[in-house]
Amino acid sequence: MSGIIPRAFIDDLLVRVDIVDLVDAHVPLKKTGNNFVARCPFHTEKTPSFSVNRNKQLYYCFGCGASGNAIGFLMDFNHLDFVEAIEDLASFVGVPVLRDTGGISVDVDKQTVAPVYSVLQNVADYYVEQLRFAPEAKQAVEYLKIRGVNSSSIKNYAVGFAPDDWNSLEARFGKQQLIDAGLLVVNDDGRAYNRFRGRLMFPIRDKRARVVGFGARVLDDSVPKYLNSPETVVFQKNREAYGLYELLKKNARPARILIAEGYMDVIALAQAGVDYAVATLGTATSKAHLDLLFRYTSELVLCFDGDVAGRQAAWRAMDVVFAAIKEGRQVRVMLLPQGDDPDSLIKKEGRQSFEQRISGAQTLSDYFFETLASQASLGEIEGRAHFAELAHPFLNKLPEGIFKQMMFARLNELAKMPVKQMLSSGALSDSQNNRGQSRPLVQGKTQITPSRMVIALLLQNPRLIEFVEQREVVWGELEFPGVELLQTVVNKIIQKYPANAAILLEMFRDTSEFKTILALTNLELLVLDQDVENVFCATFDRLLAQAKTLKRNRLLDHAVAVGLAGLTEQERAELKGKI
Ligand code: UTP
Ligand code: MN
Repeated sequence: MSGIIPRAFIDDLLVRVDIVDLVDAHVPLKKTGNNFVARCPFHTEKTPSFSVNRNKQLYYCFGCGASGNAIGFLMDFNHLDFVEAIEDLASFVGVPVLRDTGGISVDVDKQTVAPVYSVLQNVADYYVEQLRFAPEAKQAVEYLKIRGVNSSSIKNYAVGFAPDDWNSLEARFGKQQLIDAGLLVVNDDGRAYNRFRGRLMFPIRDKRARVVGFGARVLDDSVPKYLNSPETVVFQKNREAYGLYELLKKNARPARILIAEGYMDVIALAQAGVDYAVATLGTATSKAHLDLLFRYTSELVLCFDGDVAGRQAAWRAMDVVFAAIKEGRQVRVMLLPQGDDPDSLIKKEGRQSFEQRISGAQTLSDYFFETLASQASLGEIEGRAHFAELAHPFLNKLPEGIFKQMMFARLNELAKMPVKQMLSSGALSDSQNNRGQSRPLVQGKTQITPSRMVIALLLQNPRLIEFVEQREVVWGELEFPGVELLQTVVNKIIQKYPANAAILLEMFRDTSEFKTILALTNLELLVLDQDVENVFCATFDRLLAQAKTLKRNRLLDHAVAVGLAGLTEQERAELKGKI
């Protein structure tokens, strides 16, 4: 969705905002020297190591490494996605969000969505009113009683009732908006009627409290048991989780979030005091779900019913789980006893036992290997080979790092791989190769090489591009570690001549280099402000000279190998000119 807001508008916002004011509005800052400091909002600390730099328009925490520009700050501080952060930044600056009108902009275009949100809210209110006052809702009230849903849960989750008729909504609300909101079904001859009739209504709210759709349950054994809103301009099932809004209202940073399967599970759990559960909306758990929920917590517990379908769903989720794992993200899997779901179980055994089950839930690695092992006979070589084959594609999805290495180590242990083979298999050897060849430019506390120095200085002071342009560099002829990244940075700066480091950083947000760029932007260079230009020019010139020498030496080697006659005309000219 980030393509819908024009780049130029985002740059303009980053020019208008002063990150010091923005951060100060969220975390009061104190001025010290060139910087403004505070205790870091992203980790717990006693002494301030969070600092905001007005020149660079960036923040950085020396304690936990959190860093970024104004957009990044809003995303992390308020758990917003990119578009939401832009919206908030625009309102902070006091300008309306500019959007491209072409293309697929309808799905976030305020002009289109505002009436849809508003009709959804009005209808939700209407359903609530029906449940409370309509005589024909008696059966629904009775049903909630039987299910043990108390009145404060009904209120917290805004549970309502859709009367059993075909046209009550159209009589009260705008037809087109109702259709856009998925509340009316239009049949083949163009007639529209209520989608939800005679059902208990569970409004699905997004994290900003807006109703985006409904889940609807019958009051008896008829089918389908649940009907859900279709996808609309404001509702994407794999991006919303039932109960998330209600959960965050209670606790903005829960230690863990439990993902259950059903609406009634979420409500029953919360009512019993397990107020950190959400449910997917009749769809499989998606990567977008996991990414959404990991914005608020570091641990997700995937809870599945104890039936065959539940077990299958748990295994199917592994695909997205492995893709969503990153440093600091933990997943556990909780399979309930056969025949139970969270709703029935917590009623049976109470909060304490249920929470013991949560704490005792299997770690991702245990669940994964145990489930796989149950499908292969590890007593035989063939079985172990099959086991390893099955595991590899999952483990390969993990990001490079300790966890991945440990998972491979565990796999090799279980598959009883001979030590020699172990070293040459899969990711272990990958990460070893990495150490030799394409090492990332920045790794923790790396030493500052000349090329890193040049790139970092440019990132931190885009105005230095002037000195690069003066030198009329022929990039194709240059050879030194990091030359490609340097050229990328130079090209980006020339594209737009960004006014500060924050705008330049923004140009890299969705690129593969973002992490490296962020690290270099934050690299402490120990260069005094008044020396920046001199240091840059001296280092850059040294780099160019080194690259020239390297090239000439190569050409000489080549000339010795093939003889002068074997050189191209251009090579000969170069050699003459330079010897
Ligand atoms: P379940 O059948 O486990 O329902 O479906 P439940 O939540 O335990 O329902 P109760 O306790 O009988 O009320 C789990 C979820 O699957 C989706 C719904 O989101 C439901 O909450 N579902 C189920 C549907 O979308 N349609 C259906 O017909 C059934
Ligand atoms: Mn149930």
